[in-house]
Amino acid sequence: SVDFSTFTKQTGHTSLDYGFVNTAATRSAVTYIDGDKGILRYRGYPIEQIAQHSTYLEVAWLLLYGDLPSASELADFDDRIRRHTLLHEDLKHFFSSLPHTAHPMSVLSAATAALSTYYEDQSDPNNPEHVELNTVRLLAKLPVIAAYAHKKSIGQAFLYPDNSLSFVDNFLKLNFGVLAEEYRVNPVVSRALERLLILHEDHEQNASTSTVRLVGSTGANQFSSISAGINALYGPLHGGANEAVLDMLGRIRDSGESVERFVERVKNKEDGVKLMGFGHRVYKNYDPRAKLVKESADEVLTELGVVDPLLDLAKELEEIALSDDYFKERRLYPNVDFYTGVIYKAMGFPTRMFTPLFAIGRLPGWLAHWREMQNDPQTKIGRPQQLYVGSAARDYPQA
Ligand code: ACO
Repeated sequence: SVDFSTFTKQTGHTSLDYGFVNTAATRSAVTYIDGDKGILRYRGYPIEQIAQHSTYLEVAWLLLYGDLPSASELADFDDRIRRHTLLHEDLKHFFSSLPHTAHPMSVLSAATAALSTYYEDQSDPNNPEHVELNTVRLLAKLPVIAAYAHKKSIGQAFLYPDNSLSFVDNFLKLNFGVLAEEYRVNPVVSRALERLLILHEDHEQNASTSTVRLVGSTGANQFSSISAGINALYGPLHGGANEAVLDMLGRIRDSGESVERFVERVKNKEDGVKLMGFGHRVYKNYDPRAKLVKESADEVLTELGVVDPLLDLAKELEEIALSDDYFKERRLYPNVDFYTGVIYKAMGFPTRMFTPLFAIGRLPGWLAHWREMQNDPQTKIGRPQQLYVGSAARDYPQA
């Protein structure tokens, strides 16, 4: 194997690579992407097959441990996660110190960082038992935190997790159940949400995953590293795009502007306006996840009897963009976020919950990469070089 750090020192070259377009920071065995062909595989399995046959927790296991779990391994994993869903009551009170207007992503990252304070004596990144325990804790508690952020924003009481329910059904109940009222999970919504979460579970070295690895490379624990990943995901060029897409569609509808005129403004880069949910650093072909999400959008809205003009608007935008030279030349296609918002909206989630849903989806990938980084003997603290372009040495002015 090549020791690239020695190689760099020997040759004396430093490459300037804004946005890490060409620079690999690690080797990884978790996810394979061929952006030109539109291929995505988790641990070798095509995303289309995974999305059809698997569950969120099964995929989480696959990403974390490298192979599909046996039935008993999966049952045990599921059971352990169910037993860790409760948040400490004090942490529940933590939410009351935040304004109800807080964005759920800010609440999610703050509460995830705060989780660390409860487990400081069990958070040694070099202790495999701690790592296992905190993997389970994070998988179990992040959905509960996200649901509480939602409940807080709408002024409703928090529910305790119902551990008789599956992972996804429990999450739905925590979000949409109301005290003293029976809550019935709609199986169509449950399966569709599970599928969307699966499609988000990993995507190799994207900005948030790279952030998790970078923070983890300093020896920071899983809570701190995942909290940092949540912050990286929040931005509209990354996970925040799902919220931005729906805002964009709503603005087009409300302004009465034609889709053609909006696309013209995008092409002319007027005020930096972009077609949100389009384009990807890696995919220069149709994002395979977007294909599956688009199918789900039709299925879910039909099943729920929801007629949403925003879905028609999104389809119209896609059709116009895909036949336009600006988008063709730049190889811009819908990404995973283009159609997710319409589905989440039909399920009843407010727009600001869309990115927390992405975070729950991506959590297993973040954890898998954190562990891979931790177990790789070649891992070093991440520390990019820079090319200094500032002032030459000069003397401090004397009075
Ligand atoms: N709308 C209009 N033009 C775009 C778009 C877009 N959505 N995306 C890229 N372009 C244009 C750029 O302006 C640039 O044009 P130029 O050559 O005339 O300067 C060209 O396409 C190349 O784009 P870059 O910004 O260099 O591509 P990069 O790989 O750096 O960015 C990104 C990728 C951030 C995803 C970009 O496509 C984008 O901003 N998309 C909209 C936001 C979005 O949907 N993000 C979600 C990404 S997927 C995810 O995180 C889940």
